Amino acid sequence: MGMNIAIDGPAGAGKSTIAKRIAKKLGYIYVDTGAMYRAMALFLLREKIKPSETEKIDVKCQEADISIGYENGEQIVYLNGENVNGLIRTEEVGNMASASSPNPNVRRKLVELQQKLASDQDVVMDGRDIGTCVLPKAQVKVYLTADSRVRAERRYRELEERGVDCNLGEIEKDIIERDHQDMTREISPLRQAEDAVLIDSSHMTIEEAAEAVISLL
Ligand code: DC
Repeated sequence: MGMNIAIDGPAGAGKSTIAKRIAKKLGYIYVDTGAMYRAMALFLLREKIKPSETEKIDVKCQEADISIGYENGEQIVYLNGENVNGLIRTEEVGNMASASSPNPNVRRKLVELQQKLASDQDVVMDGRDIGTCVLPKAQVKVYLTADSRVRAERRYRELEERGVDCNLGEIEKDIIERDHQDMTREISPLRQAEDAVLIDSSHMTIEEAAEAVISLL
């Protein structure tokens, strides 16, 4: 087994930014598991399935082949061979990912892929259930969180920079709803693993949070 760093936490806590920074510094591979659930969600949306249609999700998800590759150090997610990186960062896809990820068939498929990636290389992997389910033996486990208002503000700035029209109050409401959905689901809910270190990034810079994780190694 390579070195495994597991970072879990709610949406907008800064997991991916911090994980990428750590991976670059240490020369590890960054694995963004949320992107895999998003690719699956995109597939389901294209099949015209609604978040509430759990039985259809159960059957249709079997037709999605999700894999990842790397180009210039950046993770690329492929959905049935198509690079979908540019299509998965929308609220619609994020909400569908949150709604479809409790499905056992969806999880089984993606967890298997994640475990394979971490089995023979050094990885920083972020998600919701990495420390608790995917990599229970990870040498470093972090639960990264931040105040929901701070997370909403970060998301707001990110969308603003991309020229997307948005509303801070609505973003925060969405974040709270998504947290609730991810934390209360039956299978692999988002929670801090017993042996994970809690880091609250509300008042930290990216650099400070990345250093806090690296110092645990
Ligand atoms: O981190 P993200 O916003 O890209 O993740 C999108 C959704 O995917 C999230 O709301 C829940 C789900 N997810 C999951 O269930 N397990 C993971 N390891 C990662 C994401």
